[in-house]
Amino acid sequence: MDFLDQSVLPQSSQHLVLIRYLLVLSYLIFIPYVSLLFGSLSFSLFFKYRWEKKGSADDKKFSKSVIDLITSGRGAAIALGIVPLLSSSLGYAQLLHKSGLVVPGFLFLSSILLLISLLLIYTYKYTFHLKDIFSYAGKERKKETGIEDDIENYSVKAGLLHKKSGFYGMVFLVTSLYLYFGALELASDSSRWTDWNGLVGILFSLPALISFIQFIAGSFMITAAFLLYKHYRPNSEAAPQPEIYSALIRSISLNTGLISSVIFALLFTAGILIHPVNSLSFEFFIASTSALILILFTSILYYSMLKESVVKYSSVLIYVILFIFALSVVKDQFAFSTASKYQTAVLDAEYQAHIKALEEASGTAAPINGADIYNGRCIACHNFDKKIVGPPYNQTMPKYEGKKDLLVKFILNPVKVNPDYPAMPNQGLKPKEAEAVADFLLSTYKK
Ligand code: HEC
Repeated sequence: MDFLDQSVLPQSSQHLVLIRYLLVLSYLIFIPYVSLLFGSLSFSLFFKYRWEKKGSADDKKFSKSVIDLITSGRGAAIALGIVPLLSSSLGYAQLLHKSGLVVPGFLFLSSILLLISLLLIYTYKYTFHLKDIFSYAGKERKKETGIEDDIENYSVKAGLLHKKSGFYGMVFLVTSLYLYFGALELASDSSRWTDWNGLVGILFSLPALISFIQFIAGSFMITAAFLLYKHYRPNSEAAPQPEIYSALIRSISLNTGLISSVIFALLFTAGILIHPVNSLSFEFFIASTSALILILFTSILYYSMLKESVVKYSSVLIYVILFIFALSVVKDQFAFSTASKYQTAVLDAEYQAHIKALEEASGTAAPINGADIYNGRCIACHNFDKKIVGPPYNQTMPKYEGKKDLLVKFILNPVKVNPDYPAMPNQGLKPKEAEAVADFLLSTYKK
């Protein structure tokens, strides 16, 4: 997936911030969409299975109507599923450029798997309807000669295609989403960036597993709310459904909603507790607690409807759950930006170097000046009296007193010094520039 890394141009820190916002936006679209997709496909497959076992017509009707919930237009699958996922892959390629991290590649792979799974899911849906059409035609047209064999033949084929597409659609969807959540988990934990960098690390890590199961719970939580909304919407224009069928939907949705919201709350808490310390922050804490309160609120709503056997809060529920999803996306982004502070500084330094090279090439570069170089190239990571990404100069300069050559050598070719810090990336200065900035540092820190 090197092509993703090569597609990247150096970006200023303002641009990087913009990319982060776009990432958040793409999740806000993507997560609710795939949650509904996963939830409705699971319901549909399960009730199809039950119908095949027990033969209840209501199960079949439900199975068919629930898959239509999310697959009404094909444009939606592209706009809400594929496009946001692809753009987050490119966004991460930009943000994690030069970190050697595999996240963008995994996200890219995940979008391809999602595309395959969407094709299968739509096939599943169409063959569902096709099967019914065939069986209807089979009954009606028996008298006409010549085509009944065809009908029989194609009806069997449609049935087979239907069975396979549903199953494999699910397999591809699960693989794609597992990869997606694993990759995001990896991105927000910088302690695993170097030693856990790979497929195995993603697939078998506890955080990845927790966030995936949490996704499943979330997807049932929102699918249940949508089902209630669709069937119990006030002034709905759809023909009223028979009471038995309505009761089936009500009990499935309310039970699923309650159980999944409780599981979601537990996993959400577990996710916070095992969260890597290096990406904790105040904002993270606020976003997490608000989300948790709203999840409990969701459980209470489901519970009270279940107890009274009525449906009344379905549209409120949808909004609350969407808001929970948004908060948890924002929470993850806070974690990611805390985790990638060092990475951001590296990119900023790269951008400054890029600009400098452009200026030199066009002959507009200013004469070499140590203070300018410090302000342009080092300040992202260094201060004189504060630790930023690198150590404060007041701490490191004394040992270079009278040893300017050594300092210049370090700046030109940084080596690992202090185990408490990450290694300093090479800043690509020319010897003259390194000397100027060394002079500047040595003469400034004493002031
Ligand atoms: C991307 C962040 C980053 C940038 C940009 C950066 N540094 Fe560093 N610097 C570090 C880190 C991290 C360390 C600690 C390295 C270590 O201890 O192994 C460090 C350490 C140092 C040290 C101390 C070396 C020692 O012997 O302890 C000096 C001197 C230094 N940097 C100079 C510079 C100069 C000059 C620039 C600008 C041209 C610069 N750095 C730009 C991250 C950065």
